[in-house]
Amino acid sequence: MPNDVKLLQILDWDSPRQNARLRDELATGLLRPQAYIAPKFFYDALGSRLFEAITELPEYYPTRTEAVIFRDFLPAIRDGLGENFTLIDLGCGSCAKAGKLFHAGVLPRRYVAVDISVEFLRDSLQNLKREFPAIDMLGLGLDFTEELRLPDDLPLERRVYFYPGSSIGNFSPPDAGRFLTGLAARMDRSGGLLIGVDLVKDKALLDAAYDDPLGVTAAFNRNLLRHVNARLDADFAIGDWQHVAFYNIESARIEMHLEARRALTVSWPEENGSRSRSFAKGERVHTENSWKYSPDGFATLLGNAGFTEIQVWTDPRRWFALFFARKAA
Ligand code: AVI
Repeated sequence: MPNDVKLLQILDWDSPRQNARLRDELATGLLRPQAYIAPKFFYDALGSRLFEAITELPEYYPTRTEAVIFRDFLPAIRDGLGENFTLIDLGCGSCAKAGKLFHAGVLPRRYVAVDISVEFLRDSLQNLKREFPAIDMLGLGLDFTEELRLPDDLPLERRVYFYPGSSIGNFSPPDAGRFLTGLAARMDRSGGLLIGVDLVKDKALLDAAYDDPLGVTAAFNRNLLRHVNARLDADFAIGDWQHVAFYNIESARIEMHLEARRALTVSWPEENGSRSRSFAKGERVHTENSWKYSPDGFATLLGNAGFTEIQVWTDPRRWFALFFARKAA
């Protein structure tokens, strides 16, 4: 790595303790009556690349629409962020969104890139540092959805949390509220939160965005089983599982599942033997929810989480919203 880019790997998937915890979490989810695998398991190195490919699909409008909002409201965004701030990019992936801000002249003093996919983070941050050598850069490999552990020496002043892409939608609304409350606790009034939120819209548009005809989202969903096989030494046969995604209007959320194409049993070793879970044909493993909000609904969530001076910008079709807010006194 160039000299002044540091990478702190707090989540080491392979450390015996973490590994045991993750295996336990996976086994518990698989043995639930409605089997469940947390969406964080999408993001091994291949999964992160597949997600990048999703963002380029014509049907997956969030990334493009959010980019239009950034472009159209850049001066207002720049005013909100001010100068000499620390940009803390939550789930930075390829760091492309931060890179775009930097290219548009929105330059932090310090950039903290946080992602669960540590290998991907390392490569992305190295590339960005080459382009912007004057910005201090730090990579944090951790699962911030569990706990956002920032280094003790990171200044509290002028922290701007950057949470684009509507990843907040992957929390249930109560969990999103708790997560946002946690962010408010990790900043002072000189900082802010810049967050992208996908909005409720027509079901057909949403269904297409999560079940594209090219099958990229299906590959992203099924790749999770490869990752689980590697983590848990499980024997999921990927071809036995079908991608299912739909917008649940009542719950205002996309649901993603993997559905067994035939009756089958999945097994994995445990300390004293092995465990297994049988699935009937058509039975599903729930892999992700992606909640959609109204602008007012999300502003209320922010207010309840301890934010104020809430500004919202949307695209002309009102498909997506970008919020900027400060910590309430
Ligand atoms: C990361 N997150 C915001 C994406 C979403 O839209 O919920 C993950 C995704 N799942 C399927 N397509 C994209």
